[in-house]
Amino acid sequence: MIPEPLRTVLTPGFKALSFITKPVFGDFAAPLRAEDPEHIRFNFAALADVHVDWRSYRWRRLSTALRDMEHSYTPIDALVTLGDTTDHGEPDHWEMAEWIFMHHKPAKELIFAIGNHDTWTHEEEAGRKFQDLFIEYSEKICNRKLDKVYFYTEVKGYPFVSLGSESDCLNADISDEQLKWFEETMEKAAATGKPIFVLCHQALNQTHGLPKTFDRKEDYKTMDEGGIGDASDKVRAIMKKYKNVFYMSGHSHMGLNGKYTQKKKGYCTIEHDGSLHLFNLPCFMFWNHHGIKWCGLGFQFEVYDDKVVVRPRSYASRLWYSMYRQEIALEK
Ligand SMILES: [Fe+2]
Repeated sequence: MIPEPLRTVLTPGFKALSFITKPVFGDFAAPLRAEDPEHIRFNFAALADVHVDWRSYRWRRLSTALRDMEHSYTPIDALVTLGDTTDHGEPDHWEMAEWIFMHHKPAKELIFAIGNHDTWTHEEEAGRKFQDLFIEYSEKICNRKLDKVYFYTEVKGYPFVSLGSESDCLNADISDEQLKWFEETMEKAAATGKPIFVLCHQALNQTHGLPKTFDRKEDYKTMDEGGIGDASDKVRAIMKKYKNVFYMSGHSHMGLNGKYTQKKKGYCTIEHDGSLHLFNLPCFMFWNHHGIKWCGLGFQFEVYDDKVVVRPRSYASRLWYSMYRQEIALEK
């Protein structure tokens, strides 16, 4: 993350460099604006692993990113966080998140998926479940009434299906009841005729280089380490029944990487399986591994009638990672 005063000094240099290298790297210093503002239908930002707690550098880093979104030339319809919104799911961590979002309006709607860190509150010992805290603060911060940690919502008619762990484990604990709900809900989402955005903190098992790209580990013990867990095959099979499904995860803290890593190592931040598109976002708050390591990264999704443009951005440094941009045609 580039500090504000330094960014002011560096911006003219970035713009000049971006102008010269545009044919190779894209316009990385372009402002936060849709590529085609006239025809965009839906515009949302996604961050993973925000890890808010009481430490000031964390709320400062998040505030910087939210300010960038607030200043977007194209209004942002939704901001999604893909779990581990809090560092430990404690009430004071949620209060801090509430305080930050009270002071910023990055998007018209906020959607928080649950992550393993959000399930690790010590309040459990006093009989207050992590589910209660997640539901309470989803209503306070996102203004969304939930009854479970998994839920369905629509923004401007675009469907979001959020899966969530039902116990405090490292993988996601997806019950049979949740899987049944997921099957029914995907049918409902598909009926909108729009691309379907599935949110889950953990990636499908063995995608994006898992398990070896999980949390720097090379000595992984099981093949589902860092992934969604036992429900992986069933979740994938349900999604494969539909077209234009965008599955978004975080959790592994894998840095941003692209075609070169795909060719050399066989994995990548954005992977495709027919009409199922898989995104594993870098950790926003901390440094990453296995790719571009900086903190402050997230993705901007621009939805048009016939395509979705995915644009990785450092919201903290206000620069695009244009080389990793992808344009995904929507199947009719
Ligand atoms: Fe996590």
